[in-house]
Amino acid sequence: MKVQYQDDKRMGVFVYDFNNKTASDRDIQDLKELVYEHKIVVIKEQDLSPHQYCDFGYRLGEIEKYYQPMYHHPEREEIFVSSNVSQNGQQIGVPKTGKFWHADYAFMPKPFAFSMVYPQLLPSKDRGTYFIDMSKVYQGLPDDLKSIANESSCYHSVRRYFKIRPEDVYRPISEILDEIERVTPPSKHPTTFTHPVTGETILYITEGFTYQIGDSQGKPQDISVLQSLLAHSGQLDKSFKYPLIEHHEFELGDLRIWDNRSLVHCAHYAANSEPAVTFRLTLHDRYPFYEL
Ligand SMILES: [Fe+2]
Repeated sequence: MKVQYQDDKRMGVFVYDFNNKTASDRDIQDLKELVYEHKIVVIKEQDLSPHQYCDFGYRLGEIEKYYQPMYHHPEREEIFVSSNVSQNGQQIGVPKTGKFWHADYAFMPKPFAFSMVYPQLLPSKDRGTYFIDMSKVYQGLPDDLKSIANESSCYHSVRRYFKIRPEDVYRPISEILDEIERVTPPSKHPTTFTHPVTGETILYITEGFTYQIGDSQGKPQDISVLQSLLAHSGQLDKSFKYPLIEHHEFELGDLRIWDNRSLVHCAHYAANSEPAVTFRLTLHDRYPFYEL
C-alpha cells in the first residue's frame, strides 16, 4: 500500500496498491488512522464485486444498513444505492441522494464513524462531493459564538429531506409526516463535541438536518443563532465558493472513505441526466460517536 499525500491546503490522501484480499490487519489499522488524520482517504484502482466491497467494509468496522429498504442493493442490503438507472424497468436504489449539506445519520441517536462511497457509473463531468471540515469551522468562530456552541445542544431531523417512496403516492401528507416523526424522532446532540480519536472540537450542525438549537437547559434559542453558526460554516453559501468548502471529484475505481464525525458533505450532480450509480457503506468504529 502506497500513500500519496497532498499539499496542506487540501484534505485527504490517495492510497495506491491496496488489495483487501492481501492486506494485513496492520494495513487496515493504518488505513483507519489515515482517515482520522486526513479526514478523507481515496483508495485508487479498486475493482470489487458487491460481496468483495462488503468484505472490505466489515474489516474496517461494524456496517449498519440504512433503515429504509428502498435504498438497499438487491444482493447486499448493507449497500446503499444512489442511482438514476433502472434495470429491466425496475428502479434500483434512489436517484440524486444527499444533495444538501449533511452528515450521514446525524438525525439518528448514533451516527456513523465512517462513510464509504464507491462509484459504479459516473457521468462525463460534474460528479463529486463538497466537503467542509467542521473542526476548522469551530476554530474560526468568534469567541461569543464559540461559547454559545459549547453550552448548547441541537436537534436534528430527517423530515425536510425525507424522500417520498413509490408506495407513498396517494397517501395523505399528514400520515407520511406522522410516520416520519414516529420512525425517526428528532435526535439531540451537543452542538460541539470532542472527537474521540483526534481530540479536535467539532461543530456538529448541518443545514439539511439541524432545525433547532437549545441552551444548556434545553430551552429553544432564537433560530438566528443557528443560522449564524451555519453561515460561519459556509453551508448557506449557494455558490459553494466559501473558503472552507472543498470539491472532491471521482474517477472510476476510486473508493472514498471519510470521517463522518468531522466532515459535513453535499453531493454534486451533473445538470444533465447522464447515468450515475454509487454504492455507499456506513460503519461504526469501536469508539463512542462523541465524548462529552
Ligand atoms: Fe451522505
